[in-house]
Amino acid sequence: MTNTPQANESAPDVAMDLRSSFRLDGKVAFVTGASSGIGQALALAFARAGARVALTARRVDRLAEMAEAISATGGKAMAVALDVTDRDGITRAFDEVTAKLGVPDVILNNAGIAKPALFLKTDAQTLESTMATNFTAAWNVSQEAARRLVAAKRRGSIINVTSVLGIGVGAGHAAYSASKAALAHATRAMALEFVRHGIRVNGIAPGWFVTEMNADFFATEEGIAYLKKTPPGRAGRLEELIGPALLLASDAGSFVNGVILPVDGGHHTALA
Ligand SMILES: NC(=O)c1ccc[n+]([C@@H]2O[C@H](COP(=O)([O-])OP(=O)(O)OC[C@H]3O[C@@H](n4cnc5c(N)ncnc54)[C@H](OP(=O)(O)O)[C@@H]3O)[C@@H](O)[C@H]2O)c1
Repeated sequence: MTNTPQANESAPDVAMDLRSSFRLDGKVAFVTGASSGIGQALALAFARAGARVALTARRVDRLAEMAEAISATGGKAMAVALDVTDRDGITRAFDEVTAKLGVPDVILNNAGIAKPALFLKTDAQTLESTMATNFTAAWNVSQEAARRLVAAKRRGSIINVTSVLGIGVGAGHAAYSASKAALAHATRAMALEFVRHGIRVNGIAPGWFVTEMNADFFATEEGIAYLKKTPPGRAGRLEELIGPALLLASDAGSFVNGVILPVDGGHHTALA
C-alpha cells in the first residue's frame, strides 16, 4: 500500500473552460454608481458577460438609456433610482431588484465622491458626506446583500471599489483616503465572516482613470504633468478594469477572498 494520492485526486482540473469560468450567466449583478465612469463601464461589462444587471444611481435617466442599450443587444437590465446614503432606499432597491431579476449575487459597491481638500481645510460636512457615500453606503449595501444571500442560502461575490489612495495617501485627499482605507478594512472583515456562507468579498483599488470625478483636473497642464509623473505615466483605460472585475465577480475567482486588488499600473508601489 502506498500513501501517494491518485493522480485524479491531486491534479488540477485543467479541463475547466477558461472562457466560461469568467462568465456571469444566471447571476444578478447590483451596481451602485452605474450612471457614469467606472460603474457604467463595469455594469455594461457584467451585462455582456451574461448577468442580469440592476443599474443604480441618482441620475436614473442615464440608467434608463443604458438599460435600453443592454436590452437591444439581448441582455437584461433594469434602472433603479438609488441614493446610496439613504439606508431605507437601499432596502427598497433590493426589494425591487429581487422581485424583477432575482436575489443579487454580484454586488459592485462603486458609488463614490471626491472632494479634495487639505486636512486643515476639510470641513465637517465634507468629511461626513465623503464617509457616508464612500464607506457607510458600501457597508449598508453589503449588509443588505449578504443578509439576503444568507437567507436564500446562495453564494455571492461583493466587490468594493476602493482606491490607490486607500493604500497610500496623497496631500489634499485626507477624507477620501480615509474613507477608502476604511472600506478596504471592512472588505477584509466581511470576507472573514462571510466565507462560511460562500460569499466572497474583495476590493478593486483603481489608480487614476479619467472620469467625471476628475476630468477637469486631468485636462489642465498640472493634471497632465501629474499623470506623466505617476509610475505608469498615464491614466488607466476603463476597459482595463473589466478583466480584474470579472475575475472577482465570477467563478474564475472562486478561491479569491479578502484581497484588495490594485489596478493602477503599479502606482501603489510608489506610495507610502
Ligand atoms: N476615477 C478615478 O481615478 C478613481 C480612482 C480610484 C477610485 N475611484 C472610485 O471609483 C468609483 C467610481 O468613480 P468614477 O471615477 O467612475 O467617478 P464618476 O464618474 O464621478 O462616478 C461616480 C458615480 O457615483 C455615483 N454616486 C455618487 N454619489 C452617489 C450617491 N449618493 N448615491 C448614489 N450614487 C452616487 C454617481 O451617480 P449619480 O450622480 O447619478 O448618483 C456616479 O455614477 C468611486 O468610488 C471612486 O472613488 C475612482
